[in-house]
Amino acid sequence: MRAIQFGRFGSYDALEVVTVPEPVPAEGQALVRLAMAGINPLDDTTRSGKLPAGAVKPFPVRAGGSGVGVLEEPGNSALPAGTRVVLSGGRYGVGKDGTWADYVAVDPQHLLPVPDEVNDTSAAALTTGAGYLTAYLSLTELAGFRPGQTVLAPGVGGAVGQGGVEIAKVLGASLAITTATNAAKAELGRAAGFEVIDLSRESLRDGVARLTGGKGVDVVLDGVAGPLTGAALGALAVNGTLVSIGYAAGMDTTINVTDLIWKNAHVHGFRFALFSTDQVNTVNTKLLELVARNEITPIVDSVHALEDAADAQRHLIEGSPFGRVLLTI
Ligand SMILES: NC(=O)c1ccc[n+]([C@@H]2O[C@H](COP(=O)([O-])OP(=O)(O)OC[C@H]3O[C@@H](n4cnc5c(N)ncnc54)[C@H](OP(=O)(O)O)[C@@H]3O)[C@@H](O)[C@H]2O)c1
Repeated sequence: MRAIQFGRFGSYDALEVVTVPEPVPAEGQALVRLAMAGINPLDDTTRSGKLPAGAVKPFPVRAGGSGVGVLEEPGNSALPAGTRVVLSGGRYGVGKDGTWADYVAVDPQHLLPVPDEVNDTSAAALTTGAGYLTAYLSLTELAGFRPGQTVLAPGVGGAVGQGGVEIAKVLGASLAITTATNAAKAELGRAAGFEVIDLSRESLRDGVARLTGGKGVDVVLDGVAGPLTGAALGALAVNGTLVSIGYAAGMDTTINVTDLIWKNAHVHGFRFALFSTDQVNTVNTKLLELVARNEITPIVDSVHALEDAADAQRHLIEGSPFGRVLLTI
């Protein structure tokens, strides 16, 4: 079968297109024939060797943390062969071989059936970047979010920004705001129905003050970090919570501690290890139902051939996409 793998940490050119035997599922594992896979920021972090020592399986590593396909061999899964399935959690492409391949061996608890109303592209877009899942778990489990509150999910082109504003609205937010780094992306976001602060024209603090009547936002879902985290703390309402999810703009920030003290502010880290497989599967099942009912609409930036995975990964990281970057297999 065809697969994309790397035998060393490095830049995009560490990814190689190889022909390898199909994986042999371990006892109880399922075998999935992939139709589409996602390019995730974590796939780039993994390939570039930025994860803690021991987190990544021994080389070679078959990349890819998300995907959708057809169950070829069910193993211990209760689902019959032929079911359309999507991967749900499981550290594929990091601790185990991943989805940028014709086939992947999967532990049955990491598979969910895809409703008929949800096509492969939408299922792949929903799970790629895990933005919807992250936003749902952050709001319901970490941030103490209540309907009627306001949410800021910066990063209009990214999974956390797009998933964040859509899930905040579904859960009853009175206002869900995202940010754009330039006017063109702000326009794309507004055309998609999002409330967008264009950071090339207005500071985060000014934009949030304008949209909230000076009150600030109750929750920030921060997948951007860098200087934006300090600014986002300044844009919190009293008793607000910032959930720290990712660091697309850098790992370091400067904060004014009075933004914490005077607002009784809360800051919470987000890591999937905080949640059980059952929690992840329950939320992903709800999310698939929301897609089926057209209540959320994961956006696709572009679809690339499997063999072009390295270029597609560069596009995700350097090309400023608007929506998910996917592979067709
Ligand atoms: N902790 C976890 O388990 C977890 C879960 C999910 C995601 N993450 C992480 O969260 C991060 C975001 O994920 P994603 O899929 O949304 O990432 P992404 O596709 O890399 O998008 C990053 C977003 O950051 C914005 N951005 C970059 N530099 C910026 C700056 N200087 N100022 C303002 N905005 C800036 C971009 O805005 P524009 O669109 O305007 O260009 C873009 O939308 C990644 O680091 C990912 O690994 C972690």
